[in-house]
Amino acid sequence: MEWWKEGVFYQIYPRSFKDSNGDGIGDLNGIREKLDYFSWLGIDALWICPFFKSPMVDFGYDISDYTDVDPIFGNLDDFKALLHEAHKRNIRIIIDQVYNHTSDKHPWFIESKSSRNNSKSDWYLWRSPKSNGEPPNNWVSLFSGEKAESAWTWDENRKQYYLHLFAKEQPDLNWQNEGLRRAIYDSMKFWLDIGVDGFRFDAASHFYKAIENNIIKGPQIKKSLFESSRDEYYWDPFTARPQTLLEIENIRRFMDSYPEKVSIGEVSSDMGLCLYLMFTIPGRFNIAFNIDFLEKLSFDAANIRALSETLDKFFGTRAWPSYVTGNHDNRRILSRMAGEMHVDFEDKKKISKLFATLLLTLRGTPFIYYGEELGMEDTYIPRDRVMDPWGKALWPKPGRDPSRTPMQWDSSKFSGFSDFEPWLPVNENKVDVNVEKEMNDPNSVLNFYKKLLQMRKNYESLRTGSMEFLDIDNDLLAYKRDGDITIAIVLNFSNGSKLIDTNKLSGKIVMSNYPDHVLKPKEIRPFESLLIEM
Ligand code: GLC
Ligand code: CA
Repeated sequence: MEWWKEGVFYQIYPRSFKDSNGDGIGDLNGIREKLDYFSWLGIDALWICPFFKSPMVDFGYDISDYTDVDPIFGNLDDFKALLHEAHKRNIRIIIDQVYNHTSDKHPWFIESKSSRNNSKSDWYLWRSPKSNGEPPNNWVSLFSGEKAESAWTWDENRKQYYLHLFAKEQPDLNWQNEGLRRAIYDSMKFWLDIGVDGFRFDAASHFYKAIENNIIKGPQIKKSLFESSRDEYYWDPFTARPQTLLEIENIRRFMDSYPEKVSIGEVSSDMGLCLYLMFTIPGRFNIAFNIDFLEKLSFDAANIRALSETLDKFFGTRAWPSYVTGNHDNRRILSRMAGEMHVDFEDKKKISKLFATLLLTLRGTPFIYYGEELGMEDTYIPRDRVMDPWGKALWPKPGRDPSRTPMQWDSSKFSGFSDFEPWLPVNENKVDVNVEKEMNDPNSVLNFYKKLLQMRKNYESLRTGSMEFLDIDNDLLAYKRDGDITIAIVLNFSNGSKLIDTNKLSGKIVMSNYPDHVLKPKEIRPFESLLIEM
């Protein structure tokens, strides 16, 4: 079985993980200092968000040099040292490649905009205005918030517009250009030769676009990145999409010339599952992030069953599923699920563990977002500390900063993240929610994750077994994982106790998110999660 099917990934937002040199911003040496934490926890692979040279308008998702490290994060030797130390511990590292766009400070863009006839003039999506001076279509930049600004910015020098699906400092690349494509593959080769274990491909469903005559129809100009129905704007189903998919096949062929690499696509649209499958059938990406699951998740057993059962049947043996409950673009899982519930700290811990059980026992590769293993919550960000470009446009609605605050290593002023004021505020709950305290508490969320990850290592069924849902009770989500042995997972999404029908569920309870649990299943308590060896 491929390692990336059995393994558990952990997502690091490098600015916020660990600062090694006291400038308030996390860095590569900080991650290296903490590698033993991952060995202790039982993590198989790290996905590190972009740490390449960047003006940081979108905190690294605006790259100005694909093959160098930004000095804020360290240098190339620091990365090599990190990779080497990680590999010594059997931890793989995948990096985040942003190939839909660059920074407007990338030398490619600077050359491209210098004239209409330089060697890179066609590397970006330049268009002349329509006869009335307007941009070629009415697409809206995803980061412009309520203002719904055009995705086209005028350049006085070329007297043309360039396209940017995201901020205007993130011009979109023209994948139709062969020279550009060669440069992209060269940068992939650079990192594969250094020894990275794979890539996360940012915004990979947007590589090729159908610009001409692709006008947003009707009144629904979508204003938010996450409520949008983007396909109809960026994709023409009969031209653009097949080109993107063919490109993914080329990328995959290229990566397969190296052993054991993984390719993970961030592909997003309202088409959800269909799109994921299209991008991950054999010969394409290995995995697509299941962001649909993340976005539609609610505190509701029937809904979660519908989401995961549909996906599991649909994927079957055609492609390999994945599960995501949090990332750097969304609110933290605990805040989304329990934020409005008026529950106390003990219940919050149970709820964190409940969703951890879900994430780590569904059939598919799980991605843990940093800090979720502690039960971290969204942090309130006052207006003068908003950093996220999209958050600035959305104000007073929160953007993406609340889930990007410093990792909570201990209860000290800056939570052991840094000796200096961090770039985003530390959550007040660091006093209770931190690695040091939780390591020493057998009933912590952290120790629960560790135990669950160990369970996955012990039980092949949890990693690769088939999955079958059981009809038990509307408030309970129950499913079996079948492999070497059968494990049933029962999750109570209500705040009341429920009796368990022992005809349907008999066996030995091997894990619960309550510290005290019986051996034989009889009843399941509020927010309880059970693993039963059948
Ligand atoms: C992806 C990233 C997001 C970034 C955007 C533009 O959606 O996850 O953080 O802002 O692409 O690169
Ligand atoms: Ca630093």
